[in-house]
Amino acid sequence: MAVGIFDSGLGGLTVLDAVSRRLPDVPLVYFGDNAHAPYGVRDADDIYDLTTKAVTRMWEEGVDLVIIACNTASAAALRRMQESFLPTDKRCLGVFVPLIEALTERQWGDNSPPRQVKVQHVALFATPATVSSRAFQRELAFRAIGVDVEAQACGGVVDAIEEGDMILAEALVRSHVDALKRKMPKPEAAILGCTHYPLMETTFQDALGADVEVYSQANLVAESLADYLERRPEMLGKGTQSMFLTSGNPAKVSARATQFLRREIKFRAA
Ligand code: DGL
Repeated sequence: MAVGIFDSGLGGLTVLDAVSRRLPDVPLVYFGDNAHAPYGVRDADDIYDLTTKAVTRMWEEGVDLVIIACNTASAAALRRMQESFLPTDKRCLGVFVPLIEALTERQWGDNSPPRQVKVQHVALFATPATVSSRAFQRELAFRAIGVDVEAQACGGVVDAIEEGDMILAEALVRSHVDALKRKMPKPEAAILGCTHYPLMETTFQDALGADVEVYSQANLVAESLADYLERRPEMLGKGTQSMFLTSGNPAKVSARATQFLRREIKFRAA
């Protein structure tokens, strides 16, 4: 009854952590493509090839449903995967829609026409590939009108987190928030549109100020997965064991993961 969680590296652990708290009985197969992170500076074909390869590997561990816990892969590859890669008994779900539904005060599956919502000035922090895909703005336009989105491509933050250099990551976050504020001085809400960024959430909140509501994905995705599995229990795969797979160096990745989640995490080679 396992479910898969995929990310380019360590960021998806923020989603894994929330899912394991929300669904403690579901075994989770995590795949971090650490050898190829960051995805945020790659082109769409490259991201598609890497993501499909990782998802295919995860199927071997008995998962039929994979959460693409990576905004960059969700933005650059998910639609193409759903159209021309996934067999009928497999599914991949992205991390954008639950977040946008929360921002636009919608229930799951509410497909009514776009309408005016409370927030009007939204700051989006994401990787360069996610920002240039404009996938966030596209999904938002299906659901809301009159929302002004200012996107800030946060170059370097994912690399710094993957390297465990949190001092550099913090300095970069502060300079990206400053750059955003020069373009949009008073955002009402900020979206952390990369699953690595919740690891820096207090820095984002501090740099943005207490009056900005910061949306991060982990809990929203966990809630929406629980809801999905209630409707589609047959999507629980045959796997019975939780495991952590990486394309990178298992010892190094395990040490960073243990530091981030504050519990022992043991990766093995994918
Ligand atoms: N956590 C991934 C995301 O949500 C990071 C992408 C990257 O590897 O640059 O976008």
